[in-house]
Order: sequence, then C-alpha cells, then structure tokens
Amino acid sequence: MDRILTAIKPTGIMHIGNYFGAVKPLFQMSEGNETFFFIADYHALNFIKSAEELKNNSQMLAAAYLACGLDPEKIIFFRQSDVPEVFELNWILSNITPKGLMNRAHAYKAMVEQNIENGLDKDSNVNMGLYNYPILMAADILLYNSKYVPVGLDQKQHCEIARDLAQYFNNRYGETFVLPEPKIEESVAVIPGLDGRKMSKSYNNTIQMFCSEKDLQKTINRIVTDSRLPGEPKNDDCTLAQFYSLFGTKEQTEDYKKRLREGLGWGDAKKELFVVMNEYISPMREKYNYYMSNPQEVEKILQEGSIKARRIARKVLNKVRKKIGVCKLAD
Ligand code: ADP
Ligand code: TRP
Repeated sequence: MDRILTAIKPTGIMHIGNYFGAVKPLFQMSEGNETFFFIADYHALNFIKSAEELKNNSQMLAAAYLACGLDPEKIIFFRQSDVPEVFELNWILSNITPKGLMNRAHAYKAMVEQNIENGLDKDSNVNMGLYNYPILMAADILLYNSKYVPVGLDQKQHCEIARDLAQYFNNRYGETFVLPEPKIEESVAVIPGLDGRKMSKSYNNTIQMFCSEKDLQKTINRIVTDSRLPGEPKNDDCTLAQFYSLFGTKEQTEDYKKRLREGLGWGDAKKELFVVMNEYISPMREKYNYYMSNPQEVEKILQEGSIKARRIARKVLNKVRKKIGVCKLAD
C-alpha cells in the first residue's frame, strides 16, 4: 500500500475533461492505496481575489467530487486551509530553497519572459505568492510523506522541486522525508472540447459536468461538426463519436459509429449523444444538487477529513521540528 496525494485548485466549475482526465483516474489509483486529496484553496489565492468566490468555488468543487463518487472513508478529503501545519513546513522549506531554483520554476519564468517581451520590468506583476508557489506545493506533498503524486504534465516540474527540497532537507538534517515521485498518466486521453481542441475553461469550450438537462442539450448542440448532410457518410472519429465512447457502452458506441459511417445526420447524432450522456450524468447531477443544497454535510465531511490529515501532518511536522532543533508541538 502506497501513500498517494494530489490536489486541485478551486478555480472553476468541473467539466467533462476534468472528470475523465483527473477525477476518474484518481479514484482508480486510490484503490488499494492510502490516498489524500485536497482542495488547494491557498494555491488559488493568487487567481481568485473575491472571498465569496473562493468560498463558493471550494464548496462547488467538494460537492462535485462527492457527487462523482468520492468516498471519504477511502480517500482522506480535506481543504488545504484547514491544515495550518502546512504553512509551518512551508517556512521551514523556504530556508533550504535556493532562490535560483524558484527563478527557474515555469510559472514565474513565463511571467518574466512575458514582461521582458512587453518591455516591462522583469518582476512586474509578480507577487511572492506566485514566486513561492512551488514551495507551498512541496510542503503540501512532504507534510504527509507522500510517495506518489498523480498530476498532469504541467505539474511535473513542481513535483520535481518537491523531491529536490526533500533531498536537500534529508542531506542537511538526516533521513526525514520520503522522496515523492510524480505519477503522470500518459494513457489518460485528452478530452476534446466543443470546438475539437482540448477541453479547457481557458478555451471556453467546455461541457459542464452538472449543468441542467436543458443546458446539456444546448451545449451538445454547440459541438462543431462539418457540413455533411444526413445520408452522407461521416468520420467515425469525429468529436461526437469521441464523446459518445466516453458515455456509451462498447456495443452502443460501435453501433453509433457504424451509423455515422452510414450517414446518420448530425442533428440525430447529437440527440443520441444527449441521451447517453444524460443517463450517465443524471444520478451524479442529483447528488451534486443535493450536496449544493446541504452545504453543512459537505462541511462536515471536509472537517472530518482535515482531522485525519492533521493527525498525520502533526506527526511529520514534529519529526521535522526535532530535526531542526525546535520543540515538539503541544498535543
Ligand atoms: P482547465 O484546462 O479547464 O483549466 P484544469 O487545469 O483546472 O482544467 O484541470 C484540472 C485537471 O483536469 C488536471 O489534472 C487536468 O489534467 C485535467 N484535465 C483538464 N482538462 C482536460 C482534458 N481536456 N482532457 C483530459 N484531462 C483534462
Ligand atoms: N499546483 C497544482 C495545480 O495547479 C495543485 C496542487 C497544489 C497540487 N498542491 C498540490 C497538486 C500538491 C498535487 C500535489 O494543479
């Protein structure tokens, strides 16, 4: 049994790309392992400036994961801000982090490059939250002695920084942290968006996971197709077929593809896609609406999760405190 940990920033409403690209793979990976999953609200502070929005987004994200089937008995599910121990470790790690390592972190580097291109000071609009982002993420990972960190490719460098910091600490103070490894699932398909590009909120081409039936139908109608008429053969690898294969059974999908090749019209193909998608999503949508109207239940789950997480975090932190010459935390 390995300890795995991952997190997601509460920066938007869950879409189908997130579900198939992050949520389902996490559930699969959690089987047989000890899993920590948290809402990285303090990592979102740089992007979300409204208190109301940060709070609502965190609640929506928690409701969404629970609606998708996250079982809090199997996955320790909590909010980053409910485990203040992480900020203590963040400070300790800051003291072993070479500044040069942070200069090379990609989010900061990209910002500097953009500033230089625009003729601005290189650090224009850079705050210390952005600059130190990788240290907090390292603290997130090391605080639980996590072994595997399932993430997308964009987070690989952050995981490598966490491993570097663990190594620096171990070298200076003796064996303390497990060296974490990113787990990048290459086999997870990139889910297309309405326009065929990668589904992403930055492209505004998403299908929201829990929108109403009516909105789901409207969104499906916006999926871009070519101008082939009913009766003309269609490509069975089109965006509609790709979506269908995510929600329909194998047999259903084969039949759908066959009929596309035989000339099924786009209008009818969209209606059929709606039916399979809606069937799949309906029970989750119901659960989502339930959690959204019972926020106290979500809160209770998160609080219970943070108690479990803190128990482990405090153990690791006490070990770290001892190593650096600081007294144990009072119980
Ligand atoms: P967005 O691109 O909409 O901003 P995020 O960056 O918040 O999405 O993604 C959160 C998680 O969902 C990441 O693990 C990412 O890999 C996964 N994900 C997002 N979009 C897709 C997609 N189109 N296909 C597969 N996985 C995705
Ligand atoms: N930085 C990650 C992202 O933008 C979110 C995150 C924060 C995270 N802390 C983490 C991911 C710890 C894995 C482990 O997606």
